[in-house]
Formats: sequence, structure tokens, C-alpha cells
Amino acid sequence: MNMRFLNACRGRQVDCTPVWLMRQAGRYLPEYMAVRSRCSFMELFKTPELAAKVTLQPVDILGVDAAILFSDILTPVEKMGLELDFVPGPVIANPVRSQADVERLRIPDPEQDLPYVLESIKILRRELDGRVPLIGFGGAPFTLACYMVEGKGAKDFLQIRRMMYTAPEVYASLMEKVTRMGIAYLNAQIGAGVQAVQIFDTWGGILSPHDYQRYVLPYSRMMIDGLERDDLPVIHFVKGASGMLDLVASAGADVVGLDWHTSLGRARDQLGRHIAVQGNLDPAVLHAPLPVIEAQVRRILDENGGRPGHIFNLGHGITPEVPPEHARFMVECVHRLSGTAPV
Ligand code: CP3
Repeated sequence: MNMRFLNACRGRQVDCTPVWLMRQAGRYLPEYMAVRSRCSFMELFKTPELAAKVTLQPVDILGVDAAILFSDILTPVEKMGLELDFVPGPVIANPVRSQADVERLRIPDPEQDLPYVLESIKILRRELDGRVPLIGFGGAPFTLACYMVEGKGAKDFLQIRRMMYTAPEVYASLMEKVTRMGIAYLNAQIGAGVQAVQIFDTWGGILSPHDYQRYVLPYSRMMIDGLERDDLPVIHFVKGASGMLDLVASAGADVVGLDWHTSLGRARDQLGRHIAVQGNLDPAVLHAPLPVIEAQVRRILDENGGRPGHIFNLGHGITPEVPPEHARFMVECVHRLSGTAPV
């Protein structure tokens, strides 16, 4: 069993730095496109055999130290009663705008309503057979609510910020419901066999630190507190949080994910030895020639300076035009440059 990833999450010594890539299963891989050309994205993650197949592709092709379940953060939101589609970004035909809309939302029962997610996890644990650990994931309440209220992607998510400031009681009841849903959904993934979970808060950084603390953090903390996890690691990634890492860390996860606007070395100095970090290569670097990629990997490893508790990753998802060979080379560089033993 490759324990590098789980050991690093727990702050233990490892033979070399573990690495995986956010969005590692996806359109930059011809092998993914071959499966995807025969079905829609939603059909793909609702068909356990296919979801398992594309989850394993980056493990085989790139040599990463963890697999992440193939699904989407919005998967459970559809079962709350929203009409979801991907074009390829998410769109919701009936977004949440009022208290009545919030009241209509239901909390799905994962066993009943999302059996394909749990079945994918069971297939993957069998097929991985201990090769690398399996990461489950969910959206943080705020990022899910951003899409639920806006009804699509946006740069600024003005609809939810307007709701937050002008109808705080509607906002609070929505966030409370999404949080309860998220806890049940992640606990079901844990019950089905995932070995770590990542909470994605892609949009947490659009608020001021003051408003993050007031309107977002309590729900993220409630979600993390609600997990039935013993020593199962929780990774908390808030994009755009370089000015409020202390707040993010106070939500209670074992690992804080860093985007590339943060200096990894300074983040480690600030957060201390008891919190692991994950990150934080600018995804655009994977477009560069191989020597540039190698130099940037070395620079990030140097910033970490050999401290235990570092998982190498990108600072956000891999982009569709990256040559797979570059991603594979990055993984190899991380292992080679951080290793105490020959890889
Ligand atoms: O990391 C992995 O490989 C696991 C799979 C995964 C997907 N989405 C697959 C996906 C994960 C962990 C996510 C998380 C996700 N989804 C987030 C948080 C992380 C982030 O990137 O900020 C968000 C905000 C979403 C919502 C979402 N889903 C968007 C904005 C998009 C469109 C973006 C795009 O790449 O076009 C999606 C679609 C999506 N999710 C695809 C994949 C592979 C593309 C689907 C396709 O057309 O094949």
C-alpha cells in the first residue's frame, strides 16, 4: 500500500513528497476523452463502472499517489431538487432566490438518491486494492450555495452576496440546509470506503476576511465537525484565501490547500507544525517547457524545506490543454527531487 499521501496528511515522515492533481481525471487526457465521447459528463459520473474507469486513468498514466473519485461538487445538489446540467460549466434552471425556494430544497438520502456515488467508491476500493488511497470530496457550503443561487458560474457571484447582505435570514437558512446535506453526503462517502476527503471552497476567497469569518467559516467548521472520521484526513481548500489562512485553518481540517497566490514557505511558518499543507503550483506552469516545470517544482519543495506534512498539488484544477506528458513529468520531478530513496 502506498501510504505516502495519508502519512503526509497526518504530518508523518515520508520517503518522498506525495503528489496528486486537482481535476486529474479530465479533458487533457485522450483516454478520458475516449470515454467521454460516448456519453455526457452526467452520464459518466452516474455510471459507476465508467466513473471508476476514469478515476483510475491518472493513477496509471501519471503515477500520482492518490485517486480522487470522479464526480462533481454539484452531484448532490441535483437531488436537493434543482435542475442541473453541464454545458460544460454547471447551469441550474431553477436557482434559489427566496425563502420559499429554500424550503422546497430537500436533503437527499445518499443511499437512496446517490447510489451511483457509493457504488463507484466500492468498485474503486476493490480495483485500487491498496495501490493508492481514494479521496472523496464535496463542495463547501458557500461554494455550493454560490451556484445554487446564481444558477451558473460567475466571476463575482453577486446574487448570493446580495442575498447575504439584504436577506441574511434567507442566506442563513440556505447555508444551514446545504451544510446538513454536505455532512450526510460526506459521511456516506466515508461509510462506502473513501480514505480522505477534500472540501472544495473555490469561491470562499471572493469575500473580505471579515465576511468570510462571519458568513462562511461557521458553516465550513460545522461541516468538518459533523464528519464521522476517527483519523481520516480532511483537506480544506479555499481558493483566494492567502490573506486569511489563519481563519481557514481554524475550521478544523488536517490539511489546508493553498492556491499559488500564497507563498508555501510563509504559509507553513504562519500555520505551524500541526497543520499539513497541499499545493501549490500555478496550473499554467504545466504548459511550459520541461526545465521550467522542474525548476518550479524544485522552488516549491525548497519553500517547504523538508518539513513533514506537505502534499504536492496544483494551486487549482489542471486545464484542458495541458500535454499529459508534462503532468507526468511534474509527478516524476516531485518524487525524484524530494526523495531520500531512489524512485
Ligand atoms: O479532481 C478530479 O479529477 C475529480 C473530479 C472533479 C470534477 N469537478 C470533474 C469535472 C472535481 C473534484 C470537481 C470539483 C468541482 N466542480 C469544483 C471545485 C474545484 C474547482 O475546480 O474549483 C467546481 C467549482 C465544480 C463545478 C464545475 N464542474 C465547473 C465550474 C465545471 C466546468 C469547468 C470545466 O472544466 O469545463 C464542471 C464540469 C466538470 N467537472 C468537468 C469535470 C471533468 C468537465 C466535464 C466534461 O465536459 O467532461
